[in-house]
Amino acid sequence: MAIKKIAVLTSGGDAPGMNACLRAVVRTALKKDMEVYGYWRGYRGLIDDDYTPLKRFAVSNIVQTGGSILISSRSERFMTKEGRKIAADNLAKRGIEGLIVIGGNGSLTGAHLLNQESDIHVIGVPGTIDRDIFGTEQTIGFDTAVNTALDAIDRIRDTASAMERVFIVEVMGRDSGDIALYSGIAGGGDAVLVPEISTDIDKLVTDIKSGLEIGKKTNLIVVAEGDDSGGAIRLSETLKKKGDIDSWVCILGHTQRGGSPTARDRYYATAFGVGAVEALADGISGVMVGWAVGGGIDYIPLKETYSNKKVYNKKIRELLEAVA
Ligand code: F6P
Repeated sequence: MAIKKIAVLTSGGDAPGMNACLRAVVRTALKKDMEVYGYWRGYRGLIDDDYTPLKRFAVSNIVQTGGSILISSRSERFMTKEGRKIAADNLAKRGIEGLIVIGGNGSLTGAHLLNQESDIHVIGVPGTIDRDIFGTEQTIGFDTAVNTALDAIDRIRDTASAMERVFIVEVMGRDSGDIALYSGIAGGGDAVLVPEISTDIDKLVTDIKSGLEIGKKTNLIVVAEGDDSGGAIRLSETLKKKGDIDSWVCILGHTQRGGSPTARDRYYATAFGVGAVEALADGISGVMVGWAVGGGIDYIPLKETYSNKKVYNKKIRELLEAVA
C-alpha cells in the first residue's frame, strides 16, 4: 500500500543546502499526495514527539539559506535501543510510515538501526560538509564549505604575500581531508595536511626552508583539523621548535558550516530530496540516496554507508604535488 504520511528531519552537524533538500522533499511529497511532517532538532524531536506539519509555503524562500529550518542536533538518547523504540512508537502513533533523515555518518547509522528495529521505511540523505560518506560522490554542504574556505585562503594569501609570511589555515574535517585538499588545490596551497595521510613534519620543515632559500616569499599550508600534526596551533609551534620557522595561524572553524549554499549544493540537495521521496513512493527502504561515480542518483544500503570508509582520492593529491 502506498505511503501517505512521511516525516523528515535534519541531524548532526548542519550543512548549507539542507534547507534546499527540505524544500525538495516537501514539494515532491505534496505532489504525490503525501502529508509531510518536519521533526524538530533531529532524532531528539522524534523521541519528544515534537513536530510540525510542512505545507507548500513552509518551505518558500529557503532554497538560498544556510542552517536548517528544522534545527539540528546530536541525540545521545537515540543511540540507545530504548530511545529508538520511543521514536518508532511516536511515528507509528501518528500513522507515519516513512522517514527521511538528512545528516552525516552518525545520523545514517541511527537511520539504519531504526529501520532494522521497526516497520518504518527509512531513507538517508548525505548531509555533511565533510563529504566523508561511503557510496556517494557528493554530500550536501561540501561544495559550499570548500568555497568558503577558498575565499578565506585567497584573503590570507594577500596578507601573507604582502608581509612575506608563512601561514597555516586550519579547515574542518575530523576524519576527512577533502575540504583541505580541494580548497588547498584551488587556493594554490604549498602543502595540504590531511588525516588520511601521516604528516612528515621533517619534510615539511625542509620544504619550507628550501623554498625560503630560493626566494619564495609566501608559504601557505592548509591543514585539516583532524590531521596528526595536531592542527594549526600545534603545527605552528612544531615548525618553530623543529625549524625555527615563524608562522601565522588562521582557524576557519564554523564559518565553513554557514552561508548561502552554492549552486552545486542546491542542485545536489534538490536531487537528493526528490530521490528520497521517490524511493519511499516506490516502497524502497533502508537505503541512502547518493550521487554515483558517473553522475546521477544512486541508492546505497544504509549499512554500507557507515560501515565502509570512503576511499581517499590519491589522484587529487597528486594534482597538488604536481603544482605545489
Ligand atoms: O561533521 C561536520 C563537522 O563540521 C566536522 O567537520 C567538525 O569536526 C564537526 O562537525 C564539528 O562539530 P560541532 O559543530 O558539533 O562542534
